Amino acid sequence: MEIKTDLYLGDCLNILKELPDNSVDLIFTSPPYADQREKTYGGIHPDKYVAWFLPIAEQLLRVLKPTGTFVLNIKEKVVNGERSTYVMELILEMKRQQGWFWTEEFIWHKKNCYPGKWPNRFRDSWERLIQFNKSKRFYMNQETVMVPMGEWSKSRLKRLSETDKTRDESKVGSGFGKNISNWLDREKAYPTNVLHLATECNNKNHSAAFPQGLPEWFIKLFTKEGDTVLDPFMGSGTTNAVAKRMKRNSIGIEIVPEYYEMVKNELEPTELYLLEKKNSYAANLPERRIDIR
Ligand SMILES: C[S@@+](CC[C@H](N)C(=O)[O-])C[C@H]1O[C@@H](n2cnc3c(N)ncnc32)[C@H](O)[C@@H]1O
Repeated sequence: MEIKTDLYLGDCLNILKELPDNSVDLIFTSPPYADQREKTYGGIHPDKYVAWFLPIAEQLLRVLKPTGTFVLNIKEKVVNGERSTYVMELILEMKRQQGWFWTEEFIWHKKNCYPGKWPNRFRDSWERLIQFNKSKRFYMNQETVMVPMGEWSKSRLKRLSETDKTRDESKVGSGFGKNISNWLDREKAYPTNVLHLATECNNKNHSAAFPQGLPEWFIKLFTKEGDTVLDPFMGSGTTNAVAKRMKRNSIGIEIVPEYYEMVKNELEPTELYLLEKKNSYAANLPERRIDIR
């Protein structure tokens, strides 16, 4: 099977417009977070973040297949002692204006977060991964991410109550009824929506690189070999490198030429596998620093 890695240099809003409708199985990305210091660093002000992101989200909705999934890694900063609300506002507007389904929210627990002391909070050791879908019937292969049952089965499962032995229907109608006795003698269980992964920034020339395990888990869950994964804010290309290793086609878009060149060299794309689009706006990008948290 020929696997393609397509890299684009430029603003993803413009480049996404060149991609065909319903062509991507998984969008996995981490955009720049909002930043107050707009003038100094070129980041997007929290008050303007939703307006900046919505046209991009509209393109993502268009290129995503009806069975596809969009996973957005984002976290509000603390500004003047309180969390910004732009992520919540973004979720609401994506639902209201564009019709996205907000299916789930995963937590990435950063196992190796630095120690620290703040007067009004504790150290921040998690980020959100917000799952959006175009329809409620999306592709999901849950068996690929099962985890060992572990000691739990030996202790808790051996002491089942009467309720545990029958199906305990959810009181809120979520459909998540459970019959714990079904899990006796099983080797593996389905995971939770919390992923425990250390950050891996030190070995990358990018300050916000994903640990490989992060895209890997979602690529396993939401795609199969030969499918197409898109990262519109590619950075150091972690999503694309993992996709390639897992025999998925991928598309990466990056606005900073240095990062784009770095990924190009690292992924060692052959002429055959690299589709390089040097559009006039990309070639003539004004010199500016993009804030990459
Ligand atoms: C949080 S970083 C992504 C890091 C990436 N997940 C990795 O593993 O390296 C966001 C990236 O988006 C890029 N970026 C910012 N605005 C962009 C835009 N409009 N189009 C494409 N890329 C953009 C930044 O230069 C930065 O490299």
